[in-house]
Amino acid sequence: MAIQVVILAAGQGKRMHSKRPKVLHHLAGKPLLEHVINIAAVISPAVLPIIVCGHQRAKLLEELTHHHVNWVEQKEQLGTGHALLQAMPHISEDDNVLVLYGDVPLISVQTLKKLIETTPENALGMLTAYLSNPSGYGRIQRDKQQHIIGIVEEKDATEEERAITEINPGIYYLPARYLKKWLPSLKNKNVQQEYYLTDIIWLAVQEKILVHAVQPDKVEEILGVNDRIQLAWLERFYQRQMAEKFMRQGVTLYDPARLDVRGEIQMGRDVSIDVNVILEGRVIIGNECVIGPNTVLRNVELGDRVEVKANTLIDGAVIAADCVIGPFARIRPDTNLARKAHVGNFVEIKKSHIGQESKINHLSYIGDSEVGDNVNIGAGTITCNYDGVNKHKTIIGDYAFIGSNSQLVAPVTIGVGATIGAGSTITQDAPPYKLTLSRVQQNTVENWKRPQKAEK
Ligand code: UD1
Ligand code: CA
Repeated sequence: MAIQVVILAAGQGKRMHSKRPKVLHHLAGKPLLEHVINIAAVISPAVLPIIVCGHQRAKLLEELTHHHVNWVEQKEQLGTGHALLQAMPHISEDDNVLVLYGDVPLISVQTLKKLIETTPENALGMLTAYLSNPSGYGRIQRDKQQHIIGIVEEKDATEEERAITEINPGIYYLPARYLKKWLPSLKNKNVQQEYYLTDIIWLAVQEKILVHAVQPDKVEEILGVNDRIQLAWLERFYQRQMAEKFMRQGVTLYDPARLDVRGEIQMGRDVSIDVNVILEGRVIIGNECVIGPNTVLRNVELGDRVEVKANTLIDGAVIAADCVIGPFARIRPDTNLARKAHVGNFVEIKKSHIGQESKINHLSYIGDSEVGDNVNIGAGTITCNYDGVNKHKTIIGDYAFIGSNSQLVAPVTIGVGATIGAGSTITQDAPPYKLTLSRVQQNTVENWKRPQKAEK
């Protein structure tokens, strides 16, 4: 028996007031639907999830094309029961089906595993939750013995039914053969004239099939996104969870509400993170790193004890242990810094290697460069890597010293231990261990006088 996950995502999401389909709006840096696809892959790794799509189907396929899923079209959105029916021809009789929603992104793997593992064979498993404000949700109906006997949609509910605070999150786990039998028989005789998936509960009860209910670990997990207020709310919930996870691992957050995590993040022990920090993509932070305020780290690997000072942006770089970067530095993709390198304020580095203990402390642009160990690059140094058509390399040997305000016109090599005089424009290779400069000789004009205003 395999588990077939079906994700319903054909609805439009009118309340988002957006050109983009709702399930493509981002939570923690990725589309809502992508969160659900990732969950499906954990729950049932061997079976491609089926996504029922309709509204702006082409846009979904285009943006999520790199995911391994089966797209099934629901041409008209006639209700959740009708949506699931579209998936049934693609599902084997012997499978069990887990129904998820493209706009319920934070359902946890633990809760779903609990649902799957505790639902007896041949039973219908579902989640229920208690909400102090249940409005908008289907309400769970139970008999005197507390057995679930049905779900009533809010729009169809009586006053008394609306007072029920146990709600239907809409997540079910049951044998495919039940769905194959029941879904084609659903009627749309209700206020919304939709084919309600919720009606399968009545059908199960009629056939004396056990309805088994499980509650989520945290009630926020089952919350859906219907508008941008709920989206922002879920984003904050997600961020709080991540912040707490890191704090439990031994990370100090100056303010857990001012860290934003948008990707897969690993952090060592005794990391400390100041306020307004964004971690994006795949970020690995070593032990005892210190991350200053207003920094963005995107696809970055930091070794142990790296210090990133305020207002620094690092994107696509590997930074070895004991480096110091910032304040106000920008490190761009394909850069790596060897141990104890220092990069200071208003320095931009792109696609370069910076060797051990080398220093680039002020106002420089280093691009397409190989910088050796123990190099000192003075303030205002620019590697002129681009001739308007092609990019060229600058190679700087170990122990070189580049005087301030120099331009190194690539392709060019500065030899080991070479010194470049300040203010030089270097267009040819500079030999090792020598002083090279290209600077107009300083000239002092004797007997020169400042012009003076003519007397009236
Ligand atoms: C549904 C449940 C309700 C539950 C709530 C939980 C039904 C009849 N009601 O109501 O009991 O409390 O979810 O959030 O199932 N969709 C399609 N095709 C359609 C209609 C919907 O794919 O024709 C998709 C939507 O994109 C969405 C999901 O199904 O992802 C839920 O649809 P929605 O219209 O939001 O259902 P609710 O009215 O909220
Ligand atoms: Ca909904």
